[in-house]
Amino acid sequence: MKSTDSTALVEEVKRRLSDERFAHSIRVAETARDLAPAVGVDPAKAYLAGLLHDLAKELPEKELFRLAPPQNEVERAHPLVLHGRAGRALAERLGVTDPEVLAAIEGHVVGVEPGFPLGMLIYVVDLAEPGRGFNQDLLPLLRAGRLLEAYRRAVERKVAYLESRGIPVHPRTREVLRRLEAA
Ligand SMILES: [Fe+2]
Repeated sequence: MKSTDSTALVEEVKRRLSDERFAHSIRVAETARDLAPAVGVDPAKAYLAGLLHDLAKELPEKELFRLAPPQNEVERAHPLVLHGRAGRALAERLGVTDPEVLAAIEGHVVGVEPGFPLGMLIYVVDLAEPGRGFNQDLLPLLRAGRLLEAYRRAVERKVAYLESRGIPVHPRTREVLRRLEAA
């Protein structure tokens, strides 16, 4: 991707998000890019997927439903869970065509296949980027190349968090967790 394209995408993300979430997106992009070589991922793809992952997070429900029609009860009851799939749709409209980048954006909310390094990296970095102030122990695991272990811990923590707050867990996340625990 040309640097001018990248600048235009940064502006688009800035326009669509609060200052705080924009800063989070930049941190995810930069952290993912920096850690990518340690886990065998292309740094440019990691930066792009990180930059765009929350593109749809601040859309009104109506818009989320339009971009990503709900496919199950959890999605109907908790529309924010659709922001991954809706973000993918927005990224496609912006001209992003890389199937891995698009799949990583889509999967960062409900989880990706445990054999998809870019998707796993973005999922973990989203929860562990330095500005979050927690899950920081996952970053050294990534630096050490232990991507699958970091991802399993991240998914376990997300599920524990949702359960502790009484929020239903997406069926896709349950399936991913089952696979990770069987691996
Ligand atoms: Fe995020």
